[in-house]
Amino acid sequence: MESPTTSITRRDALIATAATAAAVSSHLPAAAAPAAASPPPTNMPPTRLSLQVNGQSHALELDTRTTLLDALREHLHLTGTKKGCDHGQCGACTVLLDGRRINSCLTLAVMHEGAQVTTIEGLGTPQAMHPLQAAFVKHDGYQCGYCTPGQICSAVGVIDEVRRGVPSHVSADLTVRPLLSADELRERMSGNICRCGAYSNIVDAITEVAGSRA
Ligand code: FES
Ligand code: FES
Repeated sequence: MESPTTSITRRDALIATAATAAAVSSHLPAAAAPAAASPPPTNMPPTRLSLQVNGQSHALELDTRTTLLDALREHLHLTGTKKGCDHGQCGACTVLLDGRRINSCLTLAVMHEGAQVTTIEGLGTPQAMHPLQAAFVKHDGYQCGYCTPGQICSAVGVIDEVRRGVPSHVSADLTVRPLLSADELRERMSGNICRCGAYSNIVDAITEVAGSRA
C-alpha cells in the first residue's frame, strides 16, 4: 500500500504552489504592487485665447498643451517657423516675443495671450525684405534654408541685445556695452544650429547689418 506522501502527483504540487503564491501576493502591502498608470487625459476642453502675430489678432481655441510653435504652424499656417528638434536644441523654431527671441517649441501658446509674436513672415516679404533677410541672400547665408528663419529671427534679437547692452557668456567686461565681435556673435548665435554649415556666411551677413545698426 502506497503512503499518502507518495500519492501526490507533480500536477498536484504545481497547483499547490500556484495557490500559495496567489495567497501570498494578495496579502502584500499596497506599496509592493506595481502602480497602475493613470490614463492620459483625452477630453480636456479647449481654451480660447487671442494671439497677436505679426501685427494681427487671431482668436484661437487650443488644447492647453499646444506649443507656440504648433499654434503658429498647425493652427495659423505660418509655416515659415520651422520644427527641427522640438526639444529646444536647434533654434529652428526661433521667433520674437515682444522683441526678444524665444524657442517656440519650448513654450505653450496659452502663456502668451496679449504678447506680440513676430515670425519670419512678419519681418519682411520677398518684395520688401528685412535688412537681415537681404544680407543672408547677399552673403549666401543659407544652403537648404531650413534653419534660416530661426537664424534671422535670432539675429534680430541678438542685434537688439547688443544695442541694449546685454552681456553674453564671453563678454569680458560686464560694465561696458558689448561690441559685436566675431566671438560675441558666435556665442550669441550658438543656439541656432545649421546642418549645412553655412556659419561663416551667416556671421558675414549679421556683421554687415549689425555694423550699420549696433
Ligand atoms: Fe525648437 Fe529645435 S525645434 S529648438
Ligand atoms: Fe541648411 Fe542651415 S542652411 S540647415
